[in-house]
Amino acid sequence: MTVIREHFTLKNNVTIPKIGFGTAPLKGDEAYDAVKTALETGYRHIDTAQNYRNEKEVGRALKDSGLSREDVFITSKLRAEIKSYDDALNAFEETLQNLGLEYLDLFLIHAPWPWDQKYSDHSEGNVAAFKALETLYRQGKVKAIGVSNFDPQDLENIRKHCDMLPHVNQIKYHIGHPQKETVEYCKNHGILIEAYSPLGRGGTLDHETIIDMAKRYDVSPAQLCIRYILDKGILPLPRSSKPKHIKTNSEMDFSLSKQDVETLDRLSIETIEFGTPVKR
Ligand SMILES: NC(=O)c1ccc[n+]([C@@H]2O[C@H](COP(=O)([O-])OP(=O)(O)OC[C@H]3O[C@@H](n4cnc5c(N)ncnc54)[C@H](OP(=O)(O)O)[C@@H]3O)[C@@H](O)[C@H]2O)c1
Repeated sequence: MTVIREHFTLKNNVTIPKIGFGTAPLKGDEAYDAVKTALETGYRHIDTAQNYRNEKEVGRALKDSGLSREDVFITSKLRAEIKSYDDALNAFEETLQNLGLEYLDLFLIHAPWPWDQKYSDHSEGNVAAFKALETLYRQGKVKAIGVSNFDPQDLENIRKHCDMLPHVNQIKYHIGHPQKETVEYCKNHGILIEAYSPLGRGGTLDHETIIDMAKRYDVSPAQLCIRYILDKGILPLPRSSKPKHIKTNSEMDFSLSKQDVETLDRLSIETIEFGTPVKR
């Protein structure tokens, strides 16, 4: 079985396809075409968000694919600036409408702070927003709930003040950017990590060690980067608008030696930062 047909299991027993297809910053026809190609290629997990402004195109590509709703795992994210219970519930309804769906598979709080106030404290607002996600979960409108760009301190706030723990934390994660503390916290609490920017937005693909190692395995640097993440028990969300890349990014039928994983573990690679805190 190929890896895009395999699943991780969340702690509520919901299964989630092991490779997700990233859709930011694709918009309009480019988003529609990429998602349609991804679904035709065999991806069954699509990652969108309210602030990507492509939910309508994702929904249309899904509909036009002819696939059954239950065969595709759809994630969206609450706009980072929404930090109240009622606003979160209302925004969720907008997302369902945009996507043309009756339910979502996964809904995440996009970030612990609005993007223009990075690292500011919104502990109370995050609790209010997460309580709204809990309500949607209890109503069966979403199969799993979670967060994104949350560090251990942000996660502790949810653990102390909400009924549930997130099922998923989506963070920036790629070779050379190991996010050790957050990964350890999530592993200890049964929270699945999703890796956004798994190719460092392309920034890991021209690293000499990665290029040389990929040649030895007869794969592309992107395939090596994605395989490394899967080997860590983390779910990669590669994005591409090129059919060839979309296809090869899903071809994972090779494995890395322990020694090579250790070599990659030792790399440190700086890439563009979106949100995941590297320091407060
Ligand atoms: N939660 C958050 O705050 C957050 C933040 C950022 C991203 N995300 C999610 O994570 C997804 C992925 O992250 P990302 O878009 O930042 O970056 P990424 O997937 O790490 O990298 C995308 C870049 O890599 C290139 N690429 C992809 N496959 C390739 C291949 N096989 N060979 C050569 N180049 C290749 C793409 O170009 P081509 O199109 O030319 O292939 C594109 O320029 C996003 O789309 C989004 O869904 C979430």
